[in-house]
Amino acid sequence: MKILVLHGPNLNLLGVREQSIYGTESLAQINEAILQHAGQLGIEVEILQSNHEGELIDAIHRAKGEAAGIIINPGALTHYSIALRDAIAAVDLPTVEVHLSNIYRREEFRHRSVIAPVCRGQICGLGSLGYLLALQGLAALLQKEENDYV
Ligand code: DQA
Repeated sequence: MKILVLHGPNLNLLGVREQSIYGTESLAQINEAILQHAGQLGIEVEILQSNHEGELIDAIHRAKGEAAGIIINPGALTHYSIALRDAIAAVDLPTVEVHLSNIYRREEFRHRSVIAPVCRGQICGLGSLGYLLALQGLAALLQKEENDYV
């Protein structure tokens, strides 16, 4: 089972960027924890960060037929990218949206996610732990669906 993990714009600056909101962990450290957790769960992950909407969309298209599900932190694209939302809807892969911060406790423009309606679930406000929980949740969901189907 392979899961695609996508990090959107500005997440390459984690650890440096607005530490009081996003913490001090770097993206490399978060990715290391994701890989380790995936190993424990016996699942394969492919991780990509991009500051470019089109690159994220291309990765989502490629995931069709290659991955069983997607975990995505779309960064600010969360709040306005209909193109990203359409890509997730188009490939129809179970997707979990993750945010390090609690977007509902922040500025009003962050309260709306245009991505959430095409996702199976959303985890926000738990820092990098959110990625690990998403991995665990998605793996369990996929396993359950496989068993139900058989
Ligand atoms: C974020 C929340 C977004 O509103 C913001 O634009 C980000 C990071 C988060 O992980 O908390 O870039 O997705």
